[in-house]
Amino acid sequence: MITHRSDALVLFGVTGDLAHKKIFPALYAMTKRGLLKVPVIGVAFPKWSLAQLRKSVTDSIKQSGGIDNQRALQHLLSMFKYVSGDYNDPGTFTKIKEALGNARYPAHYLAIPPSLFETVIKGLGAADLTDHARVIVEKPFGRDLASARELNHVARSMFPEDSIFRIDHYLGKEAIMNILYFRFANSFLEPIWNRNYVASIQITLSEKFGVENRGAFYETAGCLRDVIQNHLFQVVALLAMEPPAYRGFGAVHSEKAKVFQAMRPLKPDDLVRGQYAGYRKESNVAKNSDVETFCALRLFIDSWRWEGVPWYLRAGKCLAETVNEVLVELKPPPQRLFGDSASATGRANYLRFRLSPSSAIALAARVKHAGKEFVGDQRELYLVEGQQPGEQTPYERLLGDAMAGDGALFTREDSVEAAWAVVEPVIKTHHSAHLYKPGSWGPKAADLLISRDGHRWLQPVTKLEEEGRKLYDQSLR
Ligand code: BG6
Repeated sequence: MITHRSDALVLFGVTGDLAHKKIFPALYAMTKRGLLKVPVIGVAFPKWSLAQLRKSVTDSIKQSGGIDNQRALQHLLSMFKYVSGDYNDPGTFTKIKEALGNARYPAHYLAIPPSLFETVIKGLGAADLTDHARVIVEKPFGRDLASARELNHVARSMFPEDSIFRIDHYLGKEAIMNILYFRFANSFLEPIWNRNYVASIQITLSEKFGVENRGAFYETAGCLRDVIQNHLFQVVALLAMEPPAYRGFGAVHSEKAKVFQAMRPLKPDDLVRGQYAGYRKESNVAKNSDVETFCALRLFIDSWRWEGVPWYLRAGKCLAETVNEVLVELKPPPQRLFGDSASATGRANYLRFRLSPSSAIALAARVKHAGKEFVGDQRELYLVEGQQPGEQTPYERLLGDAMAGDGALFTREDSVEAAWAVVEPVIKTHHSAHLYKPGSWGPKAADLLISRDGHRWLQPVTKLEEEGRKLYDQSLR
């Protein structure tokens, strides 16, 4: 295992969207904290000059929150080098080697389309650039089980598993890290965290905006590959896993892998695919595209703890709100002792994890109104997690961890493959996508998917309501 810090960062895809939106701001934040002191070698096909690259870095930082530290910015810009070339050309890798100079422990970050991963990894191997090096790979890792296996095989032929860092930026989010902490740093949850008390679990990842300028990517991916097989499945794994056997992230990885292995492979009737009206008019989208921009699915985890508990996941673009929320719905008490025991809104007691835009955990329970009658309503015990000023973004955290060799927040080979195995049947065979109205909660068929089990989607708390709860919570302190 390599324990030293990486002494150079080679950024493949430096002229791309991801670098511009996420990676440059992360590098800037690291520089401000004094955590980036190594050369950054940007690599891409366009024949840019170094000045053009520096301008792109500066623009990205301006757009992502502004320049508040000129010295840090100048320092960051001075660390950049640029190599232009085709990834199929061995000469490109020779130029990278020259640019690396005396660096012995580079981290190669593949911020490029997945179809190019294999070419670049092989190019690095052929140019002798893999010894003592790390590789950071962006999602989606593969596009189905076979390609993920092939990619793992190629990566493992050049790098040991602990030098491969598969990014799922959801794992670097505070609110998602807190699921693991909240579950295992408290004892009150464990007795109810199972099939005896939990009726169902719903996870919503909805976005108000469409595919924006990523039509070409979406045509090759679709919602299932874009956010379900990775981001939402990671959230499921953290909620469903058994306690790790020891303190250490190897144990967390192992428990998460077991969850993916226990997930029942999806059948076409478990999945509703949707497409927002207008998607086919987006640029680089086929006029007759059947690619889904929305998914709703029902999932089962065949384990002792979760047998029979349905997990309902939905995600999509052009929906009513931008929100990511988990709702763990508890079973009602065994007897209805009070007239209003069945809540008017139909919501049983629940635990709610608000993951974004803000983060909070709320436990809903019924309390009696003052007076002679035994009637009440359901209120939330509300734990707000205030954002700390200067908190690390997921990309800053994950990039820093990868360069330091800390694999805790990355995905492991066995988990990635097991997660693909769950969605594999519906990648191959699925019903066609239903059209839905932008601004809605997706197609009607998504409601039927859940209502035929006697459940219904519980809409996430709106941003306004959430703000109200936060203010109320703060006023009590
Ligand atoms: C990305 C997807 O991985 O995650 C996007 O490609 C999606 O389509 C995004 O919008 C959501 O991430 P976040 O952090 O904005 O919730």
